[in-house]
Amino acid sequence: MWNKIVLLLTILSVSVLKVSAQNDTSKTGCASISCHGNLVSQEVVHHPVKSGCDKCHTPTGQQHPQKNVPGYRLADNIPALCYKCHDENNTMNVVHSPVQKGNCLECHTPHSSPESYLLKKNPTGAVCAQCHTLESAKKKYKHDPVSKGECAKCHDPHQSDIKRLLIKEPPALCLKCHKQQAEEIKMENVHPPFQNNCLNCHNQHSSNEEKLLDLTPQNLCVYCHDDIQKKIDKATTVHGAINDKRSCINCHNPHASNQKNFLVKDAKTLCLSCHDRTYTTGPRKIDNISQTLQKSKVVHQAIDKVGCVGCHDPHASSNPFLLSKAFPSGSYAAANKDNFAACFSCHKSEMIEKPTTTATGFRNGDKNLHFVHVNGEKGRSCTICHNPHGSVNEHLINEKTQFGSWEMPLRFKPLENGGSCSPGCHVERKYERVNAITH
Ligand code: HEC
Ligand code: HEC
Ligand code: HEC
Ligand code: HEC
Ligand code: HEC
Ligand code: HEC
Ligand code: HEC
Ligand code: HEC
Ligand code: HEC
Ligand code: HEC
Ligand code: HEC
Ligand code: HEC
Ligand code: HEC
Repeated sequence: MWNKIVLLLTILSVSVLKVSAQNDTSKTGCASISCHGNLVSQEVVHHPVKSGCDKCHTPTGQQHPQKNVPGYRLADNIPALCYKCHDENNTMNVVHSPVQKGNCLECHTPHSSPESYLLKKNPTGAVCAQCHTLESAKKKYKHDPVSKGECAKCHDPHQSDIKRLLIKEPPALCLKCHKQQAEEIKMENVHPPFQNNCLNCHNQHSSNEEKLLDLTPQNLCVYCHDDIQKKIDKATTVHGAINDKRSCINCHNPHASNQKNFLVKDAKTLCLSCHDRTYTTGPRKIDNISQTLQKSKVVHQAIDKVGCVGCHDPHASSNPFLLSKAFPSGSYAAANKDNFAACFSCHKSEMIEKPTTTATGFRNGDKNLHFVHVNGEKGRSCTICHNPHGSVNEHLINEKTQFGSWEMPLRFKPLENGGSCSPGCHVERKYERVNAITH
């Protein structure tokens, strides 16, 4: 017990002695307040300065301002002086020009500084700005670490094996801070330019585009996907979703996705995420497709099987309604299968080609009623009778059809072996597949 107390007292008295000794030198020595006190007065004091000025200054024997005190010179040239105690930092592939030249004091002060790392200025960016005027100053959006002057989060101020003095190669450089993107890079489908280098699309410092993009989203994407741009240029209809500011990234994740084609959602949900409202452009109203489907008893199986892109091109098309294949824009078209290619990529065109057939249920006995209606130069379009998306009626039959400005009711009723309609254009007619009805 006593032994321990004695030991403790000894330690205490030694520390007290040490402190008073230090105070003593700084008061009476070179760094006293009246002499060079200012050199050590800042918060961060260079370690050797604490232990003695002679680590770096050697007496010259010449006249010093004070009587009887010898003058001093630097013990060595810079950077040799610094390299006495610090590892040489000019050995790697890329050495920063001022370091190569040994100008450590362009950035550091030798004695003390208010800044960490004995920097001459705060933040680090201000040190760099002595020599570099980044174009960022003029750009609208700045990368957070750049605007905070945290240049050393990405650059080694002295040297590196990577070009531009980077501490890591992108994308690793970027992913150390961007955790969400570090998750994305593990997804099922990864966009090759994302995997390769973030700088394919982003500027590391600043940009006039949001999200530090090099170009607007659309110009950025078609820079590589010029086939899509060609299609857009040639087409008569460009999808409204492409013409807005977000353009391609309305639908595609630029980085990665668990969906095919890097879609942001599965294709059908994606389309319905916008087409859950009526769009009005000028005199035209574009139907709320989501509502049509919700109201429908029968949904076109094409939608469940292949989705909206089974018929529509998501980007642009020269067919009406962005259809991938030909289809009439109005109520009539010459009755040949090429004009209805949008349907006959899945259905048999015989239904409009042969007067008598069993290839359709729309017949009276063996009289093909598709052939009757979709016939000649002024064949009726399928959409006069069918809604391509869904309907409350069997067989996707419309409740109403547009006839000029008149919404004509069809009044379709399914019967056991046929059906009946009493549309505005003729009296009620029935068709019966087994026992043909004579009108
Ligand atoms: C780590 C090395 C180092 C130590 C230790 C050191 N100095 Fe210096 N000192 C320098 C360097 C390098 C310069 C030259 C600075 C320049 O050229 O800008 C310098 C310059 C000076 C100057 C010239 C004026 C000035 O501010 O540049 C004085 C005075 C000085 N030191 C005093 C001291 C005193 C007093 C101590 C001890 C308390 C001390 N130094 C400790 C490296 C050191
Ligand atoms: C006599 C040895 C010695 C000399 C000479 C010396 N240093 Fe140091 N320096 C040190 C020590 C010791 C430390 C503290 C290291 C630590 O904390 O790990 C240090 C720390 C530093 C730091 C980091 C300060 C911080 O906040 O972490 C910088 C920057 C630095 N020195 C620059 C220089 C420069 C520039 C020169 C040449 C002008 C130089 N040193 C000369 C010994 C020296
Ligand atoms: C272009 C400015 C610049 C020049 C020139 C420069 N440094 Fe630095 N140095 C820095 C910055 C900035 C840091 C802080 C790095 C950080 O924040 O991680 C630093 C940190 C240091 C450190 C502490 C951290 C470490 O890397 O060990 C030492 C020691 C150091 N410098 C020594 C030197 C020496 C010696 C020279 C001259 C050969 C020199 N520096 C030249 C900017 C510079
Ligand atoms: C004393 C002037 C000076 C200071 C201070 C300075 N630099 Fe430099 N830096 C240069 C010069 C000179 C070059 C070479 C210019 C060139 O090659 O066009 C350079 C080049 C660079 C390069 C390009 C290297 C390459 O491989 O092309 C980067 C990156 C860089 N500096 C970053 C910084 C950062 C970060 C800071 C602040 C920590 C900084 N610089 C502070 C003078 C300076
Ligand atoms: C988020 C990381 C990051 C930060 C923070 C950052 N840089 Fe860079 N910097 C880069 C990358 C990456 C490059 C290389 C671009 C390339 O390869 O074209 C670069 C290139 C440079 C260059 C070379 C010339 C040029 O403009 O392309 C200089 C100089 C430079 N940076 C200075 C700075 C300065 C000064 C700061 C602080 C104000 C800073 N950087 C902050 C990542 C960064
Ligand atoms: C030192 C950490 C750090 C590094 C390294 C870094 N970033 Fe950032 N970055 C941030 C912070 C912080 C923000 C702002 C907060 C946020 O949006 O997450 C940001 C924002 C961004 C943004 C969104 C800008 C906006 O306007 O919303 C992009 C894009 C970006 N960084 C790309 C990159 C790329 C590319 C790299 C690699 C060259 C990179 N970052 C490296 C920290 C970093
Ligand atoms: C093919 C081009 C492309 C590449 C390559 C790319 N990005 Fe992006 N990035 C974008 C676009 C476009 C946006 C805007 C997305 C949005 O607003 O929905 C973006 C947004 C971001 C954002 C902001 C996200 C947010 O929610 O605000 C960050 C951070 C980001 N990217 C980081 C990265 C990183 C890290 C890499 C490399 C690993 C990278 N990007 C590669 C195109 C790209
Ligand atoms: C730097 C070039 C580059 C940029 C910029 C770019 N991509 Fe890509 N993209 C590729 C490459 C390479 C592939 C791999 C398939 C290929 O070779 O076409 C690809 C594949 C795709 C695919 C899948 C196509 C398929 O056939 O599998 C989609 C979808 C895609 N990119 C969308 C985009 C979008 C949206 C943007 C804008 C945010 C964009 N890309 C920007 C280079 C790029
Ligand atoms: C409305 C949503 C939407 C928009 C906006 C959109 N895409 Fe797509 N994109 C899709 C869908 C859905 C597919 C998948 C088509 C398929 O499966 O047949 C696709 C496929 C692709 C493909 C691969 C297959 C192909 O057609 O070559 C590329 C490349 C592509 N898109 C690029 C772009 C570019 C570039 C833009 C902007 C100009 C863009 N996309 C805008 C929904 C969209
Ligand atoms: C079987 C082929 C087919 C499928 C699958 C399909 N459509 Fe259509 N879509 C058409 C046809 C044909 C038209 C033209 C209708 C007309 O003439 O009124 C059309 C028209 C449209 C219109 C324009 C409506 C208007 O009022 O002008 C939108 C929007 C639309 N479809 C969205 C979708 C969405 C969203 C999906 C998926 C849920 C989808 N389509 C699936 C064939 C299809
Ligand atoms: C980001 C919102 C958005 C998404 C997602 C979207 N659309 Fe559209 N769509 C629009 C807008 C806006 C219009 C044009 C309205 C206008 O002309 O004013 C439009 C128009 C259409 C038209 C009518 C084109 C015409 O001129 O006849 C069709 C068909 C269509 N979209 C199909 C789709 C399909 C299929 C998908 C999924 C691949 C989809 N849309 C996804 C916004 C979207
Ligand atoms: C991607 C393939 C595909 C395309 C394109 C397609 N359909 Fe279909 N359609 C189907 C499938 C699958 C069924 C269900 C099986 C069947 O009845 O043949 C179906 C069924 C139908 C039915 C019968 C519904 C019933 O309950 O009896 C009608 C009517 C129909 N389609 C009309 C059209 C019209 C009109 C077009 C062109 C605008 C078209 N389809 C384009 C795949 C397609
Ligand atoms: C005059 C109205 C009318 C027109 C125009 C019309 N259909 Fe039909 N369609 C029907 C009726 C009614 C049925 C239901 C037959 C039944 O009772 O099974 C039908 C059934 C179908 C079926 C289910 C299979 C079958 O043949 O029974 C498909 C597929 C179909 N139509 C496609 C088309 C296509 C494609 C067009 C345009 C080329 C078209 N229809 C034009 C009235 C029409």
